[in-house]
Amino acid sequence: MKIFLDTASLREIEELRGFIDGVTTNPTLVAKEGRPFLELVEEICRLVEGPVSAEVTALDTAGMLAQARQLARLADNLVVKIPATWEGLAAVRELSGQGIPTNVTLVFSPTQALLAAKAGASYVSPFVGRIDDRAGDGMELVAEILEIYRNYGFDTQVIVASVRHIRHVVEAALLGAHIATMPYQVAKKLLDHPLTDLGLERFLADWKGVPPAHRPW
Ligand code: E4P
Repeated sequence: MKIFLDTASLREIEELRGFIDGVTTNPTLVAKEGRPFLELVEEICRLVEGPVSAEVTALDTAGMLAQARQLARLADNLVVKIPATWEGLAAVRELSGQGIPTNVTLVFSPTQALLAAKAGASYVSPFVGRIDDRAGDGMELVAEILEIYRNYGFDTQVIVASVRHIRHVVEAALLGAHIATMPYQVAKKLLDHPLTDLGLERFLADWKGVPPAHRPW
């Protein structure tokens, strides 16, 4: 499973750059950075080798297409993020015909994901955390989307989004999701374990028991 960082922070991307396969942004994350949007996205695209999703803000198809073309000109690894609306999927269909990759976002139901794949979306992003927040089961949605895509051989990739904790990442991987995108704080926890820290501390303390003449360093 690929690991994407869900952020618009260059500092966070820079720190985890060697470990991540791509980046997703959204208007909320971009707003936090206080930078001109296109300039920021272009810099992110230069920093990351994999796909970088940047979202349109128009609500009508023509407006989305105009913004999508502006975004797509920024870099080869740019993926246009488009909301799961009728207008959005019309734009996805058009962009997919032109070979511009798209990520259909704000996906909360299997039928939205089915229509996104039929429109030619490269990626869909089910928001598991926001579903769980309302006492739903975000991972059940991911499982259903994956099964539907398998049933019909869609090659749209599933990005498990709105990830809140590392259990979401584990469950996404167990289900065979293609990608999980997560905030910096969750990504950092993928490797952290108190028993690793404790074990290392103990090994280093015991190493001091090896006589200096026996130690190569
Ligand atoms: C995905 O592409 C979105 O940017 C993101 O995962 C939303 O997460 P949130 O629910 O934590 O805002």
